[in-house]
Amino acid sequence: MGTNNTGVSAVHDVLAILQSGEITLQGLFQVGSNYAFLVEVNAQGECYDAVYKPTQGEQPLWDFPSGTLANREVAAFLISEVLGWRLVPSTVLRNGPYGLGSVQLFVDFAPDGHYFNFTEIEKEICRSVAAFDYVINNADRKGGHIVRSNDGNIWLIDHGVCFHCEEKLRTVLWDFAGERLTNHMLSDIADLATAINSPSKLANELRKLLSMSEIEALLGRAANLVASGCLPEPGLHYNYPWPML
Ligand SMILES: Nc1ncnc2c1ncn2[C@@H]1O[C@H](COP(=O)(O)OP(=O)(O)OP(=O)(O)O)[C@@H](O)[C@H]1O
Ligand SMILES: [Mg+2]
Repeated sequence: MGTNNTGVSAVHDVLAILQSGEITLQGLFQVGSNYAFLVEVNAQGECYDAVYKPTQGEQPLWDFPSGTLANREVAAFLISEVLGWRLVPSTVLRNGPYGLGSVQLFVDFAPDGHYFNFTEIEKEICRSVAAFDYVINNADRKGGHIVRSNDGNIWLIDHGVCFHCEEKLRTVLWDFAGERLTNHMLSDIADLATAINSPSKLANELRKLLSMSEIEALLGRAANLVASGCLPEPGLHYNYPWPML
């Protein structure tokens, strides 16, 4: 096991190592519909545990183009960073033992350290998760993918099925439906839209990861949220993932 995952290294140092370090396969996660490997990433004497999801291990889906789920994992990380909400562990796109895939910092969490067991204070933090999932159009926010790491932080994992052009929000997180977001969150979302609309590093990176229509739809959702100021309400059908954990 790597030793640095709970360390205090700056995000850009971690990203550099995830991007170019040597990958050693450690095991295969037995859960999930797509291949996900536990790996160690080593560089410059530093070692991180990470989760490698190669595009060739992705199950084909009827609604998402093949081989694009890893891109979506990385796009979700970039958006969480630019919002400044630090919800998604550091994630990069790179080649690994089974070809191109996402490599995400491993989060050490206990099996019961998930949303359904959160304290009221932890659940309150998830208001930002509800906004984030609307913005990225998360089609599969299970309770088991909002986790409390063993060092007490809340992290989101599994963003393979996000950013579709059509409305696909499926989530367990309807506790805050219809509620108003803080001005602070709304201004972060407005700033995100500005960054995507300008010749920024984010805009440049997103163009490599998503289609133009997906980026336009993303901007549309950000604009909706800023205009209404309130989180969406569930519709009548298909707004919950299955299984929910
Ligand atoms: N960053 C991470 N840190 C720790 N464990 C992770 C991380 N990413 C994924 N995992 C583990 O790998 C499993 C499979 O990953 P993930 O849920 O992203 O894949 P999936 O194929 O989309 O799964 P599902 O079909 O359940 O949606 C997760 O349930 C979790 O146990
Ligand atoms: Mg999934």
